[in-house]
Amino acid sequence: MTDSLWYKNAVFYEVYVRAFRDGSGDAHGDLRGLAEKLDYFCELGVDCIWLLPLYPSPLCDDGYDIADYYQIHPDYGTLDDFKHFLNEAHARGLRVITDLVLNHTSDQHPWFQSARRSRHSPYRDYYVWSDTGQEYPDARIIFLDTEGSNWSWDPVAGQYFWHRFYSSQPDLNYDNPAVRQEMLNVMKYWLDLGVDGFRADAVPYLFEREGTNCENLPETHDYLKEVRRYLNEHYPGRVLLAEANQWPQDVRLYFGDGDEFHMAFHFPVMPRIYMALAKTDRTPLLDILSQTPEIPANTQWCTFLRNHDELTLEMVTPEERDFMWNTFAPEPRMRLNLGIRRRLAPLLDGDQRKIELLYSILFSLPGSPILYYGDEIGMGENIWLEDRNGVRTPMQWDDSPNAGFSTAPMEALYAPLIDDERFSYRQVNVAVQRRTRGSLWNVIRKMIAVRKEQPAFGCGACQTAAADNNLTVLALIRSWSGETILTLHNLSDQPQSVQLDLSCWAGAPVADLLSDRRFPVCGDEPYPVELGAYEYLWLLIVNS
Ligand code: NOJ
Repeated sequence: MTDSLWYKNAVFYEVYVRAFRDGSGDAHGDLRGLAEKLDYFCELGVDCIWLLPLYPSPLCDDGYDIADYYQIHPDYGTLDDFKHFLNEAHARGLRVITDLVLNHTSDQHPWFQSARRSRHSPYRDYYVWSDTGQEYPDARIIFLDTEGSNWSWDPVAGQYFWHRFYSSQPDLNYDNPAVRQEMLNVMKYWLDLGVDGFRADAVPYLFEREGTNCENLPETHDYLKEVRRYLNEHYPGRVLLAEANQWPQDVRLYFGDGDEFHMAFHFPVMPRIYMALAKTDRTPLLDILSQTPEIPANTQWCTFLRNHDELTLEMVTPEERDFMWNTFAPEPRMRLNLGIRRRLAPLLDGDQRKIELLYSILFSLPGSPILYYGDEIGMGENIWLEDRNGVRTPMQWDDSPNAGFSTAPMEALYAPLIDDERFSYRQVNVAVQRRTRGSLWNVIRKMIAVRKEQPAFGCGACQTAAADNNLTVLALIRSWSGETILTLHNLSDQPQSVQLDLSCWAGAPVADLLSDRRFPVCGDEPYPVELGAYEYLWLLIVNS
C-alpha cells in the first residue's frame, strides 16, 4: 500500500475540542489543551484526528453555523494555537482533518448579513431566495423536531431563504460560481496551513432542483469532482471524507470513479450493528453488506458506532426504526429527530462484553473505523441537556475535581460532568482504565494495534464464512494479498457453537490474534468453534 493511500488502513478519532481538555482554565476545551493531550492519541494507536468545527460562530448548531471561515473561535484559542497544535500533531506522525461546512453558513456570516439587507448586494445571490417559500416541496426536513419548513421568512430581506438545517443556517447557492470559488478558497487556506484533509459536512444538499428531493443531484457531484481535482492538483495525499447520510447505492456515487471522495461514512451499517445485537441475529448486518456496492480501489468506507450527533435512524425502514427506538430509547428524552441521543456505553447497559463485541464488529467490517471521544472508556450521557449536548460532555481523564478536564470552578464548566451512579467520572476515566488490565481502554488499544498490523482489515475483501446456519454468530473473512483473517462474534448471552467450512485452507494453522487460545489446523471437515456469551475472536489463517 502506498503512503498516499494511508487512510485505507488508518484508525480515526473524532474530537469535540470544547469537551477534550481546557488548557486556558476558562471552562471550555481548547486547542492548547488538545495539544497537551496529543500523546494520548499515539498511546491509543490513532492515526488521524477529526476536529469538529473550530470557527467563529454564534454556536446555534455548535459551530456548524460558521460566521467566519478563516478564523478560530475565541473559546478554542487563536490561529497560532491551531498552528502550534498542528505542528505538534505532525511531529508525532498524527494527521488532522477539519470540518468543511460547504452547504450553509450562519445567518451571522457577513455574506448573509449583507445579502439580506439589499437585493443589490454582491452577496444576495450567495443564498437561495424565494418570494413564496413554495419551491422544492419534495425536499424532506432534516431537523424535524424544530423546523417546520426548509424555507424561512427573513423580514429584513423581504423574502424567504432556503435552509436544510436550522433556520439560523441559510444554505449557500451553489449555482453561483462565486460561491463555488469561495469554498475552494476556504479549502486552500486550511490546506496551506497544513491540514491533512476535510470531513465534508452535509454534502448531498449543495444544489436544489425542482421536481427532485434536492439530494445527490448530478450538479452536486460535478462540483465535488471539481473540488477533488483541485485537491489532487495542489495537495496530493490529503483526503476528503464525505458525510452523506444516504443508502449505500447513493453514497457509492460520492466515490465516483475514484475521482470524488477518498472516504465516506457508512451510515446504514451503523444502526444494523446495534440491531444485530438486539435481535441476536446477524441478518440485518449481512443484508446491508450485500447491498453495499464495491468501491474503487483508491477509496474507503469510514465506519463508526457513535458520533457527536444523534444515532441516526434515517437509513432504516419505519419498522426497524420503531424497533431501535423501543429497544434503545425507551424514554422520550432519549429521542431526537429520527434518532437516539445517547452514548455507546449506556446504549449497551454499560456491559463491557457488549461494548467490546461492537468494537470488534466495527473493526472487522470493511472500512476504516472512527472512534468518538470518550467511547473508548465507555463514557455516559446526560439526556437532560438540550439538542445533542448530552453526548458532548467533558472528557473524563481521571477522578480529580473536574475529571482532569479543566481547572475552572466546576459550576462554570461549559457542560456538567457525567456524575451519575453508573458512569461517574470517579469510576469511568482514562487514568483508572490505563492501569487496569482488561479495561475497555486497554482492550481497544490492543484491537487497534492488532488491526493495524493486518492490512487485510483495511484493504481486504470481505465475505461471510460458509456452512454455518447459526444466525447468532457473525463470521467474517477478510482476505488480502495471501493473508486471511476470520473474525467471529457471538451476538447472544448464551454460549454458541459453529461449524465452519474452512476446507479451502486445509492444512493451514490458525493463530488467535487477540488472546492465546489455541486452535486446530484447518481441515476438510467442518471446523468447530465454541464461543462464550458475547465472545469474539480474530483468527489468522496462516497460508503456506
Ligand atoms: C451534520 C453535523 O454532523 C451536524 O452536527 C450538524 O448539525 C449538521 N450537519 C448541519 O451542519
